Amino acid sequence: MKKAATRNLPWVSVDDYKRSTGWVTPDQGGAHSRAYCEMLERGQILFFREPPFDLPADDQKFLLEQQWSELRMHKNVSYRPSEDMLRGVSGNRETIGRLQSIMRNYSAQVARFLGKFLTPYAGKWNLDFASFRPLEEEGRDLPLHKRNDLLHVDAFPSRPTRGARILRVFTNLNPKKPRVWQTTEGFEVLARRYAGGAGLQDIAEDNSFLSRTVQDFGSKLGFGVIGRTPYDMFMLRFHDFLKENSEFQASTPKTQLEFPPQATWMVFTDCVAHAVMSGQYAIEQTFLIPPKVLVAPEVAPYRILGNIAGRALIS
Ligand code: SIN
Ligand code: FE
Repeated sequence: MKKAATRNLPWVSVDDYKRSTGWVTPDQGGAHSRAYCEMLERGQILFFREPPFDLPADDQKFLLEQQWSELRMHKNVSYRPSEDMLRGVSGNRETIGRLQSIMRNYSAQVARFLGKFLTPYAGKWNLDFASFRPLEEEGRDLPLHKRNDLLHVDAFPSRPTRGARILRVFTNLNPKKPRVWQTTEGFEVLARRYAGGAGLQDIAEDNSFLSRTVQDFGSKLGFGVIGRTPYDMFMLRFHDFLKENSEFQASTPKTQLEFPPQATWMVFTDCVAHAVMSGQYAIEQTFLIPPKVLVAPEVAPYRILGNIAGRALIS
């Protein structure tokens, strides 16, 4: 296994921007904002020393002091803003009610901030799930495809994006310990090296066994098949393929990122392969950014993969 090179702040710091402009005021004509969108779309991680939105100390304290091992919990606690629904945890009503209101407020605050910070996307996104991740990531015993300590790009089995990009905003709520990630080479490099082996051509031509299996599986679970494009099929396959590929996991060059307490970072996790190596207590909100509002659509994964396959993967 090749050792990861640890880099201090290899990402773009937006703190200077924050100091010089009051940061939440959109710049005239949105030039800064567009530049940030472009950096993100091209695979940069944008980093803030502390949350650039209101995240009340009392709420943080509540999240940290729950006995998470005693609350019945799934992989993470998730919150669906469109339905105002908390999932993945059960316990006494008062605790659940408070958790729900914390997640509701957190989700709204992040969305408000992002609308000002990344103006080209404002109001055009699909506000996806938020999550709270209270378990130590190091040594978690999860099935292979659910493991987050293996490098992967994100794709959601139950939520096809039809080319929309997955933008996630994370905050490390741990008061002492960093959240440690690894990343590797960019999407295009990985796609050119591995997409063929992962079955891109068959999926692009829609004659793969996998496409049919995923569709059958989807309809059994009641997701329906409507809306799943060859792009969605491939990204699900690529997520699994990268996690299954021990040669890739061992040999790909790795960069280690250590996000200190209170750090907040945003990243398109559909193009930045990532793994979380350790850390406990992160909160996160996901946004799906539709193709028509991207500022650099030419580097979107659906375009890169379409170029490799020689045909469009979304309609
Ligand atoms: C992920 O792989 O998407 C999880 C990252 C994290 O929890 O830090
Ligand atoms: Fe991920």
